[in-house]
Amino acid sequence: MIHNIMDFLFLIILALNTLDQVGCYTSSYTTFNNSVGDDFITPNDNSVILKNAIQVTRDVSGSVFNLSGKVLYKRPFDLWSKSGRIASFNSTFVVNIETRNDIGLTGQHGGEGLAFILAKDAELPTNSEGQWLGIVNASTNGSFQSNIVAIELDTKKSFAEDLDDNHVGLDINSVYSKSQVSLSRLGIRISEGKDITVRINYDGVTKVMKVSVKAENQTEFSRIMSVPIDLALHLSRTVYVGFLGSTGTGSENNCVKSWFFNADDIDRTKRLWVWIVIPVIIVVLLLCSTVGWCLYVTQRRKENQARDDDDLDMQNIETGLGPKKFRLKELKGATGNFSPKNELGRGGFGIVYKGMLDIKDVAVKRIINTSQGKQNLIAEVTTIGSLHHKNLVELIGWCYEKNEFLLVYEYMPNGSLDQFIRSDDENMILGWEIRHNIICGVALSLDYLHHECSKRVLHRDIKSSNIMLDSEFNARLGDFGLARTFKLSEKTHHTSKDISGTPGYMAPEIFLTGRSTTETDVYAFGVVMLEVVCGRRLDILTKDDEIRVNIIDWVWEFHKHGVLTDAIDPKLKGQFDKIQAECMLALGLACCHPNPYIRPSMRITLQVFWGEVAPPDVPLEKPAFMWPANALCSYRENDLCFTGGIMST
Ligand SMILES: *[C@@H]1O[C@H](CO)[C@@H](O)[C@H](O)[C@H]1NC(C)=O
Ligand SMILES: *[C@@H]1O[C@H](CO)[C@@H](O)[C@H](O)[C@H]1NC(C)=O
Ligand SMILES: *[C@@H]1O[C@H](CO)[C@@H](O)[C@H](O)[C@H]1NC(C)=O
Ligand SMILES: *[C@@H]1O[C@H](CO)[C@@H](O)[C@H](O)[C@H]1NC(C)=O
Ligand SMILES: *[C@@H]1O[C@H](CO)[C@@H](O)[C@H](O)[C@H]1NC(C)=O
Ligand SMILES: *[C@@H]1O[C@H](CO)[C@@H](O)[C@H](O)[C@H]1NC(C)=O
Repeated sequence: MIHNIMDFLFLIILALNTLDQVGCYTSSYTTFNNSVGDDFITPNDNSVILKNAIQVTRDVSGSVFNLSGKVLYKRPFDLWSKSGRIASFNSTFVVNIETRNDIGLTGQHGGEGLAFILAKDAELPTNSEGQWLGIVNASTNGSFQSNIVAIELDTKKSFAEDLDDNHVGLDINSVYSKSQVSLSRLGIRISEGKDITVRINYDGVTKVMKVSVKAENQTEFSRIMSVPIDLALHLSRTVYVGFLGSTGTGSENNCVKSWFFNADDIDRTKRLWVWIVIPVIIVVLLLCSTVGWCLYVTQRRKENQARDDDDLDMQNIETGLGPKKFRLKELKGATGNFSPKNELGRGGFGIVYKGMLDIKDVAVKRIINTSQGKQNLIAEVTTIGSLHHKNLVELIGWCYEKNEFLLVYEYMPNGSLDQFIRSDDENMILGWEIRHNIICGVALSLDYLHHECSKRVLHRDIKSSNIMLDSEFNARLGDFGLARTFKLSEKTHHTSKDISGTPGYMAPEIFLTGRSTTETDVYAFGVVMLEVVCGRRLDILTKDDEIRVNIIDWVWEFHKHGVLTDAIDPKLKGQFDKIQAECMLALGLACCHPNPYIRPSMRITLQVFWGEVAPPDVPLEKPAFMWPANALCSYRENDLCFTGGIMST
């Protein structure tokens, strides 16, 4: 990883380095033709590119007197930087200056010359022709605002200060030459129409300007000038390079035939910064992202830790044909964003909505109490997800997203059983066949949970509101929110330690032991059975509406007086199987026996339904609840067959 980063940085520096070299400021013309005209700026018409040369003052027949011209390379370059760095540059050019024979009005011959310049302005001062060489005019001579440095090739002695009419000078903001050298002693006559090669070197570090010249018939350059000059003192940061020249009362052709210019790109200092800054930024970014990633991973790990147990359990059902994992979005869409209009009911842990997935109706339970709800969700998904029975509500899927816990069940068009028990509506009265079928269905599902599936499952919250009715009024046991699973082998420990369930359906021993057992499930089933047969809720108001009587005590009262059938729902109007009904009431009481060891197992209960076993004898007086309960039958010697749970095999 670190190795890769270093490689990466190295590559970046390499790339920047390459860029820097490419970024050097160079202009190179071995000759000038019409097609390069666009590379140059000419402030007036006096300068043209013609005859493969820059005519600094135009080479035309006719009057070329009193002209000044300027030709600049159009792209200015950075001469110095704020950090105090000055660019070094080299320039080599070939000039050809030829005095014309046409004599001016003053009868003078030749002049004035041309100059290589570095200047801030692309403009040419007005009235800068003649002696001013185009560099300055009478009013700007000597002014620092002129902002120009020139290497002049002067062909006329215009001022007293001029050495002669054949010299090279260094001019700073004026026509007065800070340094001048006559070329005569080199055997060179500037204005004789021969090519003269001039080489100018400026070293930005030593701040020395060097000038060398070479005539057409010479092979070696002659150093004529080496002047210390800090260009940064006289010139702006960004300058144009080029040539200017003038004619005056005499005339001449001032040509530049080729030109090479190369300067350090002072921007490299900026790039040096870039070299430092970019890697630093990259390293910082890498560090930040690494730290960020680590934090993120840690955070995720923490979050995951919290739901590790769930995920571990859920993994089993995520694979395979079990409940499907849904996206929150899907379920929001299915339920109209949990519209209250779609509300089917509310439970302890959440609200159930009707939803539409594809073309199938579903019930979506949105768990609200998340801390407790999560536990229940896990219990439910893991438990019910692995269960398959025709009398269990099928869990289609689940969703666990953004702290939302949702369970998707098949939709039960006829709602829950308790509605029918509670209602006085004529249309809501269930016939005997249906009631019998419902009880058998619940018994089958419980038998499956207790005895048939690979793990023993305690539902722990059997009540009429958790028994759903499908379109054919078959019982479908649902809401496994409190359910717990146990290995079948753990026969003596198939209990759960937390008190849970719904009051009225909870066997009395739960409050002492805090344990749920198969017997406590049987007890709750017994209550449901009595509710269904009697068509009453588990707490019954006495005739004078004053005392709430538990349905078990209420039915036992009828049993005591030998009129058990009188407890049967009067709304049935006698339309029921008397033997079946009586058997169910007796079974219901047996299931609700205060002594858990005497309650029949679900298996026995079913055998009674099927007529394989005789209905249990129920004592006329409800036995008092005693704890610890006597595991042996207290009222019938051969009653061992009714001891479900621990004593059963
Ligand atoms: C014009 O001059 C430029 C630069 O010296 C050169 O690259 C180009 O080929 C020349 N074009 C013609 C038509 O001569
Ligand atoms: C050039 O200018 C000078 C002075 O400015 C003037 O005397 C002379 O006549 C001019 N020459 C031409 C040809 O215009
Ligand atoms: C100028 O030329 C000299 C040698 O002629 C060379 O060493 C130097 O690098 C050149 N400088 C630039 C800026 O081109
Ligand atoms: C010199 O040139 C400047 C700038 O072009 C101009 O403003 C000024 O009038 C000129 N001076 C003379 C004497 O022509
Ligand atoms: C131009 O200015 C310089 C000062 O930079 C001065 O020495 C010189 O005499 C001036 N020349 C003319 C012709 O005014
Ligand atoms: C070059 O030519 C000039 C005349 O134009 C002559 O005076 C000089 O001696 C010549 N130099 C060489 C090295 O041939």
